Amino acid sequence: MPIKPLSGLVLLFSLFLFTSCKQNKILQSPDGEIQAVVQLTNGKLSYQVMKDTEVLIQPSSLGFHLKEHGKLIDNFILLDRDKTENKEEWTAIWGPRKEMINHYNQDTLKLEHEPTGIRMNIVFRVYNDGVAFRYEFPEQEKLKQFTIMNELSEFAMVGNPITWWQEADFDSYESLYHETPLSQAHWVNTPVTLRSNSGIHIALHEAALSNYSGMTLKLKEGKKINTYVSELVPWADGSKVKTQAGMTTPWRTITISDQATQLVESNMIVNLNEPCKIDDTSWIEPMKYMGIWWGMHIGTETWVEGPRHGATTENAMRHIDFASTNSIQGLVVEGWNAGWHRWGAKDAFDHVTPAADYDLTKVAAYAKEKGVELIMHHETGGDAIGYEALIDSAYALCQHLGIKALKTGYAGGIYPRGEHHHGQYMVEHYQRVVEKAAQYGIMINAHEPIKPTGKRRTWPNMMTREGVRGMEWNAWSDGNPPAHTVTIPFTRMLGGPVDYTPGTFDLLLKNFESERMAWNTDDISQTRTHTTLAKQLALFVILYSPMQMASDVMDNYINHPAFEFIANANIDFDETKVLNGEVGQFITTARRTGNDWMIGAATNEKERQLTISLDFLDKNKQYEATIYADKKGCDWLSEPEQYTVSKKTVKHGDRLNMKLAAGGGQAIAIKAK
Ligand code: NOJ
Ligand code: CA
Repeated sequence: MPIKPLSGLVLLFSLFLFTSCKQNKILQSPDGEIQAVVQLTNGKLSYQVMKDTEVLIQPSSLGFHLKEHGKLIDNFILLDRDKTENKEEWTAIWGPRKEMINHYNQDTLKLEHEPTGIRMNIVFRVYNDGVAFRYEFPEQEKLKQFTIMNELSEFAMVGNPITWWQEADFDSYESLYHETPLSQAHWVNTPVTLRSNSGIHIALHEAALSNYSGMTLKLKEGKKINTYVSELVPWADGSKVKTQAGMTTPWRTITISDQATQLVESNMIVNLNEPCKIDDTSWIEPMKYMGIWWGMHIGTETWVEGPRHGATTENAMRHIDFASTNSIQGLVVEGWNAGWHRWGAKDAFDHVTPAADYDLTKVAAYAKEKGVELIMHHETGGDAIGYEALIDSAYALCQHLGIKALKTGYAGGIYPRGEHHHGQYMVEHYQRVVEKAAQYGIMINAHEPIKPTGKRRTWPNMMTREGVRGMEWNAWSDGNPPAHTVTIPFTRMLGGPVDYTPGTFDLLLKNFESERMAWNTDDISQTRTHTTLAKQLALFVILYSPMQMASDVMDNYINHPAFEFIANANIDFDETKVLNGEVGQFITTARRTGNDWMIGAATNEKERQLTISLDFLDKNKQYEATIYADKKGCDWLSEPEQYTVSKKTVKHGDRLNMKLAAGGGQAIAIKAK
């Protein structure tokens, strides 16, 4: 029960208690290393974050601008304060790790904004690997429906640290990352990652984004201290969030670690989400998949019906045959339905009517017979209204055909016009889709999605999503430079799994239809995949996705010896360790399934030698390692498709020296004997 002060005297007394009791103001992580100081000074709320004695976030203010009630940033009084220590263990249904520990100290400040009488809580959690906070507006007499014009959460950083960032964009996360001093990272999408002068890594993001709009971060102008302030994605009318009392905001997260590798290993964001809301999850299963897909991006096939239509019955059946004999569990067929020639128009796509040359019923039955999951594809072109109108019939069709996986897409401006992919309208739309899919027993892989904020814990049928400048950009633009794929594990992927779609083998795109497809580049020599082949295999391990795509056209895989790595690859893991890495430079990730491990190592434009210790292997077991490495003398610019395969007996404590070519990588499958 909130204790409401009865008089100014009681108020004064409680303020005195609050501000004078230093001990009580500091909230520590369970291991004591990270501290948050949450203060109310003269009615103004602020917080500060430290690791050991180093200040990471300087006093930063908190609050809102509400349309109906003005600014809620000062004149707060403290009604009550409640500190708890919480430790919860839970098991993930799938993921990069199964056994999860959610351990934090929490401090809830129950406040009243004196001039308006509005009650608001602020909840802080401190973990061993970061700090999170969120606001709550409990149900109350003085506040019913309200409109947030701006959230005023600030992050006052220290100095001018190096920052890996992507421009803020209300509709896309598909850009490259910049590496600059913070003062040049004016307005960014999250996650944004920084490294302090002393080497501590900090990532700012959000968790459990629901019924709210996505947050970008903007540097405040004219400030000596580099201070980010939340800038929410607006509705068409310029307001940010339309809501009512009895709500909580998403968590604002500050992941903190000494090493870049520990950022990647952090589970704070997923832990901040609610437990699973699906009773029976037995139908949710990670899978490798391939597609009638890349051909459309390199221009050899089309989505639209015609002479080069990819989604024909015969072609789909050929792919099912290959998948079923090569340990690929799923097949996505794009261009299977009517409407592609109207892409961009309202109500363009029809998600129930197949193209004339595609016998959906026959293909679905054939997939069943061969034990392959047919993955449905729903490109909406951004037409959320049209999609919701069709959704029940489209999902009922999937259910009827035994289809339980679906790739969605929102490539185009949003209908209703004026709304944004990352605004509240679409946050709620994406959520309705996930919940509807759960009702029909469907797993989702969303393209042009809202950013990942750990909701896979609550809705584990939300398998994976794009929200990244993925492989497809190599086909029709200057592509993704070698540093990109060793930046996204430390930035975009801190939010969750990514459908980057690695695994192309035809790196130089020998069949590329340049006239048709290279619309985004002046330099046609850049339309290629900017890695070696061994790095493509390594990315299959590094770029975690519970629906992991072998993205090249099928013909490039047939009889290709390197495909064995993909065919044998596990994609669901009991445990993940990031063995080494620096943002934008290199990374080595090891993932365990049962007794077996997979390792992926990748580098940027620089060749490098990395030594790893296999001390994570079981002491009592012998293992065989199959190593796919860059061929000596070759790199991403010179014969990138050359690689070597070797086998080696390995055991606990061995050390492996890995030579990575410029733009290269190494992929290792370690099997217990
Ligand atoms: C963009 C998606 O990212 C891509 O995977 C898909 O093929 C096209 N849209 C068409 O839906
Ligand atoms: Ca895309």
